[in-house]
Amino acid sequence: MTTKKQGTNLLYELIAEAKTYSDTIIMGRGDPDFDTPPHIVAAAKQAMAEHHAEHVPAEGILPLRKAIAERVKRINNIDVDPETEVVVTNGGQEALMLMVLAVMAPGDEIIVPEPNYNTYHDALKFSRGVKVSVPSSAETNFRTDPAAVRAAITPKTRALLLVSPNNPTATVISREDMQEFISIAQEHDLVIIADDIYDLFIYDDFKHVSTASLPGGKERTLTLNALSKSFSMTGWRLGWVVGPADLMARVKALKAATTGGTSIISQYAGLAALTGPQDAVQYMADEYKKRRKLVLDALDDMGMVYGVPQGGQFVYIDISFTGLDSADLAQKILSDQHVLVYPGAAFDKDRGQYVRMTFLQPEDKLREGLERMRVAMKNIMAVR
Ligand SMILES: Cc1ncc(COP(=O)(O)O)c(C=O)c1O
Repeated sequence: MTTKKQGTNLLYELIAEAKTYSDTIIMGRGDPDFDTPPHIVAAAKQAMAEHHAEHVPAEGILPLRKAIAERVKRINNIDVDPETEVVVTNGGQEALMLMVLAVMAPGDEIIVPEPNYNTYHDALKFSRGVKVSVPSSAETNFRTDPAAVRAAITPKTRALLLVSPNNPTATVISREDMQEFISIAQEHDLVIIADDIYDLFIYDDFKHVSTASLPGGKERTLTLNALSKSFSMTGWRLGWVVGPADLMARVKALKAATTGGTSIISQYAGLAALTGPQDAVQYMADEYKKRRKLVLDALDDMGMVYGVPQGGQFVYIDISFTGLDSADLAQKILSDQHVLVYPGAAFDKDRGQYVRMTFLQPEDKLREGLERMRVAMKNIMAVR
């Protein structure tokens, strides 16, 4: 007999319980399971030996800013000046906080398509900005309807958040919708905060389109990216913001005031990642494709209802057919079969009917986790 866990500590408590079993498989984790490619590690070692005492500019070393400018041109079709329009950050997380603080003043409203990455909610609280949620649902693969965004605009609206592919829904914003979001931003003079962190992981025939690459987008968009997902470098803390020089001057000032420059070791590692061989990224993208199929086939077998992941590394499942709240379902699956899925209830009170799963386990572990989940679901449904 297990007791029900509730509240904001729910996920931590589930993780703590998961650690008490020797055979737990964590199917909700958000960090890639691959090793950082060896040439990147080698570059970091070299930087340790050669550059450890250098002064680090707040905005990042110029060779890395140039490599980032080249990367966002090549992959995202965004033109930026490495001198004034790029700031290197401590991972995506710092980039996110800097963007929010650079744009939002107390009382300003920002439109946030929901569900969304939770740290945006936390960053907004610190900025004392006001989140205006625009919900979506599994029936439309969690598409955010531009008409709903338009309806949410008020005289206080300052910004619009666009995360594509999204965490946790794995939805990719189409070119048409993106252009419509830009038109709305132009009409109401909004800044767009764009998060492209999953841009290299796209499935089926979906295409990732960066906001700042479309007409009217660049001059009003701050774009975040990081190497955590694309090169499996979560712990290296290397990310960036690019955008128009006026907004970037604020991002740079905030960066200087908070953490100063980013670790020189990680910056040289990042330079090696962006300028060196790219086959590791392709390898990971291919693996995620295979794992996604494995996961979706198994979920279909279990009769699960989910938004088909268009990009990223997640699948967001609507579990309302079980009659259980996501906290109860996650608890039962964990206790019964030692598999941890992340309950939506741990992130937001409005997400009680969802759980998040990811493809971030090696294939054999994923297979075993899915088989155990199938057994747990059968046991759960048998007594309903
Ligand atoms: C949408 C999104 N943005 C930003 C981040 C932060 O990335 P990082 O791990 O580089 O701090 C994450 C991490 O999961 C994310 O999912």
